[in-house]
Amino acid sequence: MTRGQHLDGGRVLITGGGSGIGRRMALEAARRGAHVIIWDLSAPAAETVCAQITAAGGTARHQTVDVADRDVVDEAAATLIADVGGVDVVINNAGIVSGTRLLDTPAAAIERTFDVNVLALYWVTRAFLPGMIERRRGTVVTIASAAGLVGVARQTDYSASKWAAVGFTESLRNELRADGHPVATLTVCPYYIDTGMFAGVTTRFPRLLPILQEDDVARRTIEAIERGREQLIMPALVATLPGLRLLPTRLFDRINDVLGVNATMDHFTGRVGTPARRG
Ligand SMILES: NC(=O)c1ccc[n+]([C@@H]2O[C@H](COP(=O)([O-])OP(=O)(O)OC[C@H]3O[C@@H](n4cnc5c(N)ncnc54)[C@H](O)[C@@H]3O)[C@@H](O)[C@H]2O)c1
Repeated sequence: MTRGQHLDGGRVLITGGGSGIGRRMALEAARRGAHVIIWDLSAPAAETVCAQITAAGGTARHQTVDVADRDVVDEAAATLIADVGGVDVVINNAGIVSGTRLLDTPAAAIERTFDVNVLALYWVTRAFLPGMIERRRGTVVTIASAAGLVGVARQTDYSASKWAAVGFTESLRNELRADGHPVATLTVCPYYIDTGMFAGVTTRFPRLLPILQEDDVARRTIEAIERGREQLIMPALVATLPGLRLLPTRLFDRINDVLGVNATMDHFTGRVGTPARRG
């Protein structure tokens, strides 16, 4: 059984909370009365968000953590648990993108994508799940992507990592249900968001497939946690993808081409020089 999670008075850990939707979710969770913990590679970015939260009357702290480093995650989690006694909501949000074709993507970039977007889910979730199971409450959130529901040109590493993120969370949900643990999971699959991570992407039909706004995605994610939802897919058209897969593959690909999905990355630049891309 899963259930909603009142954030007021709860402790919410957000990886990659120094920027983009992570930052917005941190501000939104704090506004609803949560004590926010930010894990980010960038200490200045995380500090700035914490300062904004405290200036608005909320409470927040941060730790400089590379979520891809298992030892660093374990150490930071032990410190945090000793300080605050565990967390109620883990939002696995930190993510990176290469945005290049398979043959143009260095091996190290492919590995880093899987380290940050996939393996970190295991290290971070394993650090906090035992406490949630013991307290018989908690929510594990995975920020996946629409790219976790459809493979897109120039995203062989990113899309595959997000498919893994969707599979990770679905398996975890079923494992928790099978074992009777009342810990909730939420998978979030948004289309492109205006954070800068995917700077340069274009969309052919903005009414059907709009570039989402980061504050909107963050607010809807926090609301989904509070309501105990298992899945949040944005916008609505993206939710039809699993059904479209009943069509012959060539027709499925053609529909995506007509929608411009495989051309979205043609002018991708990404946010060059950020900590996320330096990795
Ligand atoms: N922006 C989009 O279009 C979009 C669309 C769908 C899904 N997403 C997903 O949403 C999540 C957040 O994306 P965003 O657009 O807000 O990104 P962003 O680049 O604005 O923020 C990512 C944050 O993660 C941090 N980070 C990166 N690697 C880290 C690591 N190893 N350890 C700790 N922190 C690390 C960065 O420092 C940064 O603060 C990602 O998982 C991304 O894949 C983004």
